[in-house]
Amino acid sequence: MLKRTLTTFLLSLSALIVSAEEGMWLPSVIGTARLADMQSKGFRLTAKDLYDINNASLKDAVVHLGGCTGEVISDEGLMLTNHHCGYGNIQKHSTVEHDYLTDGFWAMSRDEELPNPGYTASFLKYMEDVTEQVNKGVKSKMTDEQAAAKRRENINKIIAEATDGNGYRATVESLYYGNQYFLFVYETFRDVRLVGCPPSAIGKFGGDTDNWMWPRHTGDFCLFRIYADKDNKPADYSKDNVPYRPKRSFAISTKGVAEGDFTFIYGYPGRTYEYITSDAVRYIADKSNPAKIALRTARLDIMNRHQAADPAVRIKYAAKNASVSNAWKKWQGETKGVVRLDVVSQKEALERSFAEWAADKPEYAGLTDRLHSLYVDLEPYAFAYDYYNESVRTIELLRFGGQLASAPDDRMMAVAKAFYKDYHRPIDEEIAKAVTRSFVENVDPDFRTADMETASKDVSRWVDSIFDASVLTDSMAVYALIEKDPSEARKVFADDAATKVYAATTKLLNDKILPRYSDLNKSITALYGDYMRGLMEFQPERPFYPDANSTLRIAYGKVGGFAPRDGVVYDCVSTIDGIMEKDNPEIYDYNVPQRLRDIYKAKDYGRWAVNGTVPVAFIASNHTTGGNSGSPVINGDGELIGLNFDRCWESTMSDIVFDEEYCRNIAVDIRYVLFLIDKFAGAGYLLEEMNLR
Ligand code: ARG
Ligand code: GLU
Repeated sequence: MLKRTLTTFLLSLSALIVSAEEGMWLPSVIGTARLADMQSKGFRLTAKDLYDINNASLKDAVVHLGGCTGEVISDEGLMLTNHHCGYGNIQKHSTVEHDYLTDGFWAMSRDEELPNPGYTASFLKYMEDVTEQVNKGVKSKMTDEQAAAKRRENINKIIAEATDGNGYRATVESLYYGNQYFLFVYETFRDVRLVGCPPSAIGKFGGDTDNWMWPRHTGDFCLFRIYADKDNKPADYSKDNVPYRPKRSFAISTKGVAEGDFTFIYGYPGRTYEYITSDAVRYIADKSNPAKIALRTARLDIMNRHQAADPAVRIKYAAKNASVSNAWKKWQGETKGVVRLDVVSQKEALERSFAEWAADKPEYAGLTDRLHSLYVDLEPYAFAYDYYNESVRTIELLRFGGQLASAPDDRMMAVAKAFYKDYHRPIDEEIAKAVTRSFVENVDPDFRTADMETASKDVSRWVDSIFDASVLTDSMAVYALIEKDPSEARKVFADDAATKVYAATTKLLNDKILPRYSDLNKSITALYGDYMRGLMEFQPERPFYPDANSTLRIAYGKVGGFAPRDGVVYDCVSTIDGIMEKDNPEIYDYNVPQRLRDIYKAKDYGRWAVNGTVPVAFIASNHTTGGNSGSPVINGDGELIGLNFDRCWESTMSDIVFDEEYCRNIAVDIRYVLFLIDKFAGAGYLLEEMNLR
């Protein structure tokens, strides 16, 4: 019944789509009106070129990589994604002697490609509206729990059927807060090898200074190859595996981009919150973002200082630092954007008029008030929960004991080795003091564990006492324990001073925070289901799309600059000249590799020269979010023109509210990628397997 309301509604809606660049659309149900809008802007293909279950379509060249997206660019399984998406793998292969982070890596033959155990690449086989099956047997007289249990049961059945005997993986995801359910079925490949990556001075050029910023000059790409067994099926790593033969791969356009060009993005955006109410936005902008930003500022200051002082520490903390810094900077941009667009007042105004409209409709009357009071109840729990996770639960030593204790006997040593490879006690200890201090200052004493109570008397002393008492600070002792007897060692680790602190926080979360937090969130989500339907009736002219949830989407827009603030206008493309403008051997983030300097000086650009320079990156108004990293940026003919890797700082509120004037995704121009492979890396042989147009 729910489904009929929504589907009928979406159909009537698709007749009157207004032209808009906002939105992340489900490719299988893109709709004729949406397609017509795309076509009027420069899309020259059909719906079946995008998504088709019977024939190869572009979706078959798009790869789900967990937190990122990739695309296949050859018939031999060659896959492109971002350098920052492959970063963890590149780092795992790096040591001070073979520092692929610093120097880059290029397999000069297939034998040299590096396996990455645990790293997988998934292709969507198909997606399907299963709303009716999910709601089968759900009765209006059921309690929420009974209805949820029934849906769970139905979902398990749908998944079991979809994966029966074919080795596929499937998920059922809720869209529009439970108004729709879609089944997604994937084939997942488990042998994915690193083929090449530029040095970080290119792949991460500008580092965290330029991250989330335009103008940008990052060559944020790396290459992997997907391997399959002889039958082209997924298999664990084996040297007998052969390159995967994809159903479809991307042709690459070397024609380039210009202001106003149509582009679209195919990928796996992670999470957006476009329909949340003013209370939720206020909490993010006024409370949680500022608190989390302050905690991360403290952690980053500490990491940066130690990393700058010692090259070995720099490598150890490279990936950790990047991930802490990334959200830290994004939240700052998001808060600014929310304030600039006055989102809270806008949403309040919307809620007021919605409430007036709803007053005589029993289905929707009082909804916004009820949401408001639930948010009032939720806030203290949400804040304590967020704070724990961003403070004491980030202390590495505290988490480690539990990881060891829960590792199987034969994995325990590997877990320990992996931890110590990237651990630096002075950083962890200093961070422990800083975040614990903030915790006792900012979190309601009602939510303290006994440890936090002790800590509140003298933080420094408390942290020292834990680090002194813990065996986990001594790698040799830990290895010896595991060597001697893993099950005895497990007891020691579970009983360790550090482990117990972490376990106590988990217990507190489970006892005092999460039950209430989850109940309230469940109620909120249920009300949002009604609110969504209400909004669709209330605003029939508004284009609705489901919030991102790591499922395959299409976003489209056009290449274009923007005016971030008064007196400043951004162009939409950047070039190698800008790299040289930033070049500064004294600054780590801007130290251009000598080889690139030489190429620049000699203007040795070969076939990649465009008007005497080399294009590097461009911006466009595609609606993207985290998870879209590595997504193909595609022209109207379905050819690859770039690789998405970021958003502009002024756009980062687009997870909450999209604004065409300010929202721009950032892509590395495919021609820069090709230039680097060819001219910089001398791996031009890789271009031979690509389809360049
Ligand atoms: N901001 C981009 C994204 O959200 C790039 C991140 C790369 N990491 C970094 N710390 N520079 O993933
Ligand atoms: N860099 C992001 C990612 O890893 C994409 C940037 C964004 O959030 O739009 O997915």
